[in-house]
Amino acid sequence: MAAIDAVLDDAGLKNARVREFVHRYAELTGAERIEVVNASDDARLIQEALDAGELLPAGEGRYYSRSHPKDTARSEERTVVATNNPADKGVYNNWRPAQEMRPLLEERMRGKSAGKTMYVVPYLMAPPGSPLEPYAAGVELTDTRTVVLHMIRMARVGVDHINDLADQDSFVRAVHVTGDLENLGHGTEDDQRYFVTVADERTILHYGSSYGGNALLGKIAHGLRQAAYDGWASGEFLAEQFMLLGITDKQTGRTYHICGGFPSASGKTNLAMMLAPDALGDRYHVSFYGDDIAWLRVDPEDGRVYGINPEFGAFGVAKDTNEVTNPTAVDAIAEGTGTIFTNVAYNEDTGEVWWEGKTPRPPADPTGWRDWAGQLISERPADAKDAPWAHPNSRFTTTLANVPNIAEDYENPKGVPIDGIIFGGRTRDREPLIRAITDLAEGVYDGLTLGAEATFAAEGTEGVLRYDPMSMRPFMSYPEGRYAAHWLKVIGAATNQPIFAHVNWFQRGEDGRFLWPGYRDNLRPLLWLMRLRDGEVTGRQTPVGVVPTEDELELEGVDITPEDLETILSIDTVRWRQEMAYREEHLSAFQGLPEEIWEAHRRVAAALDEQ
Ligand code: GDP
Ligand code: PGA
Ligand code: MN
Ligand code: MN
Repeated sequence: MAAIDAVLDDAGLKNARVREFVHRYAELTGAERIEVVNASDDARLIQEALDAGELLPAGEGRYYSRSHPKDTARSEERTVVATNNPADKGVYNNWRPAQEMRPLLEERMRGKSAGKTMYVVPYLMAPPGSPLEPYAAGVELTDTRTVVLHMIRMARVGVDHINDLADQDSFVRAVHVTGDLENLGHGTEDDQRYFVTVADERTILHYGSSYGGNALLGKIAHGLRQAAYDGWASGEFLAEQFMLLGITDKQTGRTYHICGGFPSASGKTNLAMMLAPDALGDRYHVSFYGDDIAWLRVDPEDGRVYGINPEFGAFGVAKDTNEVTNPTAVDAIAEGTGTIFTNVAYNEDTGEVWWEGKTPRPPADPTGWRDWAGQLISERPADAKDAPWAHPNSRFTTTLANVPNIAEDYENPKGVPIDGIIFGGRTRDREPLIRAITDLAEGVYDGLTLGAEATFAAEGTEGVLRYDPMSMRPFMSYPEGRYAAHWLKVIGAATNQPIFAHVNWFQRGEDGRFLWPGYRDNLRPLLWLMRLRDGEVTGRQTPVGVVPTEDELELEGVDITPEDLETILSIDTVRWRQEMAYREEHLSAFQGLPEEIWEAHRRVAAALDEQ
């Protein structure tokens, strides 16, 4: 007891509620010692992690880590939202009673940090001074040093964020205990892992992983699940799995801001970091605000929707990141950036890293190369010779400030006014390149019926088509009907409404190739959307929204055949009519879905029937 107080005193941690929290879980987890973390501790912690072999050097100021081979993605099945109110049960939130889950998790965590350090990581999920700051403070307790190093990159970390709280109790209590990763019964009936957000007690208890969003509790658990619940409970804001970018037209001096949701590993990071294609670079500049989370509120002064990125860094998919697809990401993870790579391939002689799509072929000389699981490439068994070198969900972690096109005003506490909200995902057919929606209820309806192929970012489901409302399915914390109503209420309060759109970069031909070149060319449909909002183009009205005509898209320098272009700009009404029946079933599961959403559904269905 006295020893803990001495450490907290020494670290200048004054918040009495935080101190109680630290005491309680230090005792419960049996940690041998505690250490309070500030961002300025990074260099020392990196050195300790290198000395301990938890990180390996990957060039000047870059690091490599492998997670346990059973622990490489989020586990949606083991993720639970708990509250004290059974009415909070939704379709996707895996609701369980708080009075059941809290003791269960605390029992699993008991004594499991014996012999380890418990790091106390105070953090803020917002630019300092934001109107949403009251929801942004948290303290993560973790028994894993690499988790701390990720937190320092992904969130603003330091004791000041919790000492100065107006209400000393208004911080999220987040506890991460790794457990014995080898023996947690992954995927069996006796799976020991649990990732629980006790939303109405603002407490996060995660046991059984040290990977990504399972372990960095500021990001998904607080930034999405807890914040979405807080935004709804307070009536004040939305917390969404959205990227956020700006497009400046240098000719007019105007900047547009667009945010939007695609399921994990479906293109948010690449879109937000994109450079304008060469042919458009003289006129347009794209700036990066955020790649995974946006919090949205309406400013009462000007009646506009404002978006902030609560994060401080990016946790990006490595696969296919290269100079052509994403040159800004390549710069953001270059030497000297402090980047941590997770589960890519690694050369133990040279410290080089490699992943599929970094170069067209793997390094010709396999000397020193090991795959993501640590197997020497030169000694792979015959049946594993063709397996990827990097895990498909391998990642890089870097701070926002390392991204060369980071927006000048990315830390503006107020956020930026939102002109457009887009939804998208991996859809091999049906969804055109872009279809714009000008009506709020139809826009929300479109988000709720987002259907896409699941990806490697979650365990076990890759490639399966499934509905993923607003790309929030894994992060939904309260019932979907109320979620829809909350969207209508928050965005409906804006006097200047953003335009909505559904986008798809992933339509495929019969031979399986992508029809649209994607990446930097994705700026083109977004420019069209902003022109449509400004009344400069009219597009072509279809039953499912407004689609660009070929001559309205600036296509100079785009590598696409006229046939493929026609395909991605047309609506397959037969296929769409079929889809409407699935949507009806999907939406019917949502209790209390607002009548405006059903009306939107019926309007679209009727328009399709008239075709
Ligand atoms: P996020 O997880 O939603 O942020 O998605 P990322 O931006 O990290 O992209 C996930 C994967 O999709 C990466 O392997 C990207 O290279 C790939 N990707 C992203 N944008 C495009 C695109 O426009 N076209 C194609 N074909 N692939 C893309
Ligand atoms: P992603 O972020 O959306 O960029 O994949 C990580 C995650 O959602 O797990
Ligand atoms: Mn995400
Ligand atoms: Mn991403």
